[in-house]
Formats: sequence, C-alpha cells, structure tokens
Amino acid sequence: MDRVLVTGGAGFIGSHTVDLLVKKGYQVRILDSLQERVHPRGWPSYLPESVERVQGDVCDRRTLASALEGVSCVLHLAAYQDYMPDFSTFYRVNTVSTALLFELIVEGPLPIEKVVLASSQAVYGEGKYLCPACGLVYPPFRSEEKLSGGDWEVRCPHCSGAVEPQPIDESTVSPHTAYGISKYALELTALNLGRKYGIAAVNMRYSIVQGPRNSFYNAYSGIARRFTLRLLAEKPPVCYEDGQQIRDYVHVHDVARANLLVLEDPRADYRSFNVGGPTSTRVLEFARLLSRICGVEIEPMISGEYRFGDTRHTFSSSDSLAKLGWRPEIGLETILTDYVDWVRAQGTAGIRDFYADSERRMKSMGIVRASSSSAGGEST
Ligand SMILES: NC(=O)c1ccc[n+]([C@@H]2O[C@H](COP(=O)([O-])OP(=O)(O)OC[C@H]3O[C@@H](n4cnc5c(N)ncnc54)[C@H](O)[C@@H]3O)[C@@H](O)[C@H]2O)c1
Repeated sequence: MDRVLVTGGAGFIGSHTVDLLVKKGYQVRILDSLQERVHPRGWPSYLPESVERVQGDVCDRRTLASALEGVSCVLHLAAYQDYMPDFSTFYRVNTVSTALLFELIVEGPLPIEKVVLASSQAVYGEGKYLCPACGLVYPPFRSEEKLSGGDWEVRCPHCSGAVEPQPIDESTVSPHTAYGISKYALELTALNLGRKYGIAAVNMRYSIVQGPRNSFYNAYSGIARRFTLRLLAEKPPVCYEDGQQIRDYVHVHDVARANLLVLEDPRADYRSFNVGGPTSTRVLEFARLLSRICGVEIEPMISGEYRFGDTRHTFSSSDSLAKLGWRPEIGLETILTDYVDWVRAQGTAGIRDFYADSERRMKSMGIVRASSSSAGGEST
C-alpha cells in the first residue's frame, strides 16, 4: 500500500486525516515540528502507534528531504496560523515550504504522484456580495476608519449601496491578510509547478474547521475554543463587532473525508475546492447554541470590539466537491457537542488563563481594538 507523508500530522486536521488513512490501509509518516503553543506536552497521545513520526520543520531542506523518502503522496497541512503581524513567517512556513516541497520532488526526481495542500477560506478576503444595482461584487477589506466607528457592514465598492452576502464559490479570490495571501501563493505554486512537472496538486480551501483535538492552548484555534473557555469559566462568550457576522463551520471528520476523497480521485487533480459546512450561522446564534450545549445559560456579550483583519460575512459553497461525491454530514449542534465533550474529557484545570492571556496579548498588539460602540466592560 502507498506510503503517505502528512506534514502537520500531529495537529487537529492532520491527526484526523491520519486516522482515516491508517483505517484505509495506508502507511503513514508524519512530519511535525510540534509547535509549542499547539503541543506544549510533546507528541499527542491520540496518534496511532503504527504511524512513523518525524519531529522537524517543513522549512528545513534536509528534514523535509528525508521525510519524503519512500513516499508516493503528500498531504501538506503544516502551517503558520496567527493574528499577529509577523508577516514574513506566514510566507516562510506556508508558501516557501510548498516551493521547497516541489523543489525536492523535481530535483530528486522523487516518485511522488500527488500533493494535497491545506488552503483556506481566507483566500476570499471579504467574500462575495450581491448589490441590487451593480450585481455581484467582491468588496475590499473594511477600513480602520469604518471599523473604529462601529460601522460593520460591507458596502458595494461601486455605488456604496447595501449588499447581500452570498455563498462563495471557488472562482474569485481576493486575499487581504498575510495568512490568506500566503495560502493563495501556496496554491499558485502547487498548481503551476505541479502542472509543469506532472505532479498532481489539489488545494483544499477549508472553512472554519471544528471538533475534538483542536488545541485549546492555541489562540488561533478559533471560535469554539474562545467561547467554550469563557463558558466553562462561567463568563459570557465575547462576540466581536455586533455578533451578526455569518460563518460556516465544518466538522473535522468531514474534512478528513474530503482530504481522502481528493487524494484518491484523479478528477480532483490540479483543482482547488471549498470544504465548507452544511449551514451558515451568525456568531451570536453560534454563541447561544454553545451556551446551551455547555449547560451554562449565560447571554453572550457584544463587546463592540473588533479584530483587525476579520471578515464580515464569509460562508462557502461546496458544490464543486459535491460533484465528486462529498457532502458535509455533520451539523452544527453535533460539531459543538463533540468539541465540548472533548474539552471536558481533557479536564478543565487551568484552562481559564489561556483565554485571558491570548485576549490580553491581542489587545496589546493592536489586533483586537475598541470601536465607538464598545461596551467598555471587562472582556478579558
Ligand atoms: N482549523 C481550521 O479551521 C483551518 C481552516 C482553514 C485552513 N486550515 C489549514 O489546515 C491546516 C491544518 O490546520 P489545523 O487546524 O489542523 O492546525 P494545527 O495547529 O492543529 O495543526 C498544524 C500542525 O502543524 C505543525 N506545524 C506548524 N508549523 C510547522 C512547521 N514549520 N513544520 C512542521 N510542522 C509544523 C504544528 O505543530 C501542528 O501539529 C493548516 O494548513 C491550516 O492553515 C485550518
């Protein structure tokens, strides 16, 4: 059976993908640096015994070259993800590592047939809207002036009129964060070098992925982590802006299935796919549902603060992947129940500090900012 290298395989999406690969009989090797803030206790205990583990950095030529030995396919999931303004790190870890991967395959030449890469909904920037006067529009990011005045909604870039958010398909990208740009650069690198040298490449643009093993040490781990940590500390979840942002959430098991599908299906080669959730939801509704699931009846707090670089309404259409036979099978209630059950199973001792620490850090770095509509209450 094929040997597959999974970079970032100790992480959240990586480890669930590894489980599925093992179940299907693949031989799996993981290359993971065990990033301190994701894995403060070293190799996670959830990894199957049969999997070969290499600790190292995907950006290191010798480490990556040796991890590629004897491999026929690669899932490149390791990445730098953060809200911090260390822009060059995003390109080094996400984009340059992708170029290095193709460089080593071509130089070898190595008999690697296919590379599946983790991209992100972040490549769409502010996303897609319908303007009644101008038709479909792709607005630029919201200005600091607009956000600091508590003016949250996106407007038509042509006539400044009100616009309706639309599900995003794969056709138009417009990344505006260092993370989003690094992911789109990774996509272009993989598709173009892949085509040129006959190495099938597939880019996976995940929406917000949720579920067990999403490290709650890591500030970047997202909304379920932030809100759950608050609720378990019997504090209200803090919604940025006015809580009306629309997002879609996809269960990590559905994501792992999507990764396997494109790995095995040649119809996916040289393409980019959205991997989104079954429904779209407002942040406030998400917070209320999570409160109910945690059994803590606390109304969410609308802080009026905003995280600079966040998008207003972004939710993906996964119709392209549906044509290959994939659909998200797990709904939001189960996504959140699975996550909360997992957090509880870890024991909650000491986890309060992780929330407060990361919020304080984001405020001090100017990532989370106050607007004219800020509640002024204690949100950390
Ligand atoms: N979780 C999401 O909602 C989401 C959404 C869109 C895209 N993605 C992408 O999916 C991929 C997996 O994300 P995740 O949520 O599982 O994150 P994660 O942090 O749980 O996993 C990433 C893994 O990569 C490892 N890693 C980081 N830098 C590395 C390096 N330089 N060399 C080797 N290993 C390194 C980390 O130790 C970690 O185990 C990433 O590429 C991410 O950008 C995730």
